[in-house]
Amino acid sequence: MKVGLTYDLKTDYRFKENDPPDANAEFDHPSTIDVIAKAIKANGFEVHKIGNVAKVLETLDKIKVDIVFNISEGLVGRNRESQVPILLEMANIPYVGSDSLTLALSLDKVMAKKVFLSEDIPSPRFLEVKNMESLHGLDHMKFPLFVKPRCEGSSKGLSEASRVENKEELYKQVEFVVNTYKQPALVEEFIRGEEFTVGVVGNDPPEVLPIVQIKIDGKLKLKDKFYTFGHIKSDTLEYVCPAQIPEKLQHKLSTLALKTYQAIECLDFGRIDFRVDEKGNPYVLEINPLPSLSTEDVFPLFAKAVGMTYEDIVGKILQAALKRYNIQ
Ligand SMILES: Nc1ncnc2c1ncn2[C@@H]1O[C@H](COP(=O)(O)OP(=O)(O)O)[C@@H](O)[C@H]1O
Ligand SMILES: [Mg+2]
Repeated sequence: MKVGLTYDLKTDYRFKENDPPDANAEFDHPSTIDVIAKAIKANGFEVHKIGNVAKVLETLDKIKVDIVFNISEGLVGRNRESQVPILLEMANIPYVGSDSLTLALSLDKVMAKKVFLSEDIPSPRFLEVKNMESLHGLDHMKFPLFVKPRCEGSSKGLSEASRVENKEELYKQVEFVVNTYKQPALVEEFIRGEEFTVGVVGNDPPEVLPIVQIKIDGKLKLKDKFYTFGHIKSDTLEYVCPAQIPEKLQHKLSTLALKTYQAIECLDFGRIDFRVDEKGNPYVLEINPLPSLSTEDVFPLFAKAVGMTYEDIVGKILQAALKRYNIQ
């Protein structure tokens, strides 16, 4: 059986004038694509590397594969992660992972939070800020606040200045996000405490993987610390898997991870990011229906914690999709 691979490479990205330094942060290193291709082969499949959405568009009627393993982040706009899946769907080519609606919905953190609200999934209180006037709706929110771009991932647009203590800092950071990332800002209450990320694999039923806890500067009690683009590039960030936490919290996080995965109709795999406040209340920050499969990221740790290899977990994700399409 032949598996196509769609992806975006950091090395393909051409920086434009005024691009922030993290403009290509979501894209993958060529080595990650090689490692995924190797894992797919280790599961007994042939691999055909296709490339990004432009390549898919160019070669759509010539793509002869049984299924596509899609990890393409897409090129522009809040629907960018949906571009490859919608083309494949049009051409009736099966693909691994969530569909266009789920991908677009969760890349747009404001839209995702509206779904969380309607499903009683706890998430930090928020305000969407399109322009400076919308900051007048801020009265129900308590400082410190956190300012992020509405439709980005991989900690894009986040730095030590993202956590703001007062109106002056807030205005400055909102202005930075709106001007630099050309999109509204999402302002949330800052959750002091601890941080976790939870992987989910499969569909009927989805399986919640062991919880990963984030350690920053050697600390688990993060208080005011958080995960920035700068941390990813340094060695101040560590992952603890499985997280050494009480069973009650483990249960809360696993149940919420599953509920979030199902609420946005995630398929085959996904990862949910959490903060837990100092009283032990969990908040979903976001769901990633296209989480990184890089060996530097957390998926290999999830696998190890359940006695699987990286190849096994890639195989499990692929098998979940094949089963869904009834291909065998
Ligand atoms: N409301 C918040 N309170 C505290 N920290 C936050 C909050 N929102 C985001 N963060 C920090 O910023 C990081 C990135 O935010 P997240 O919403 O997961 O976006 P991304 O898509 O960039 O991963 C989180 O891992 C966390 O450390
Ligand atoms: Mg995140």
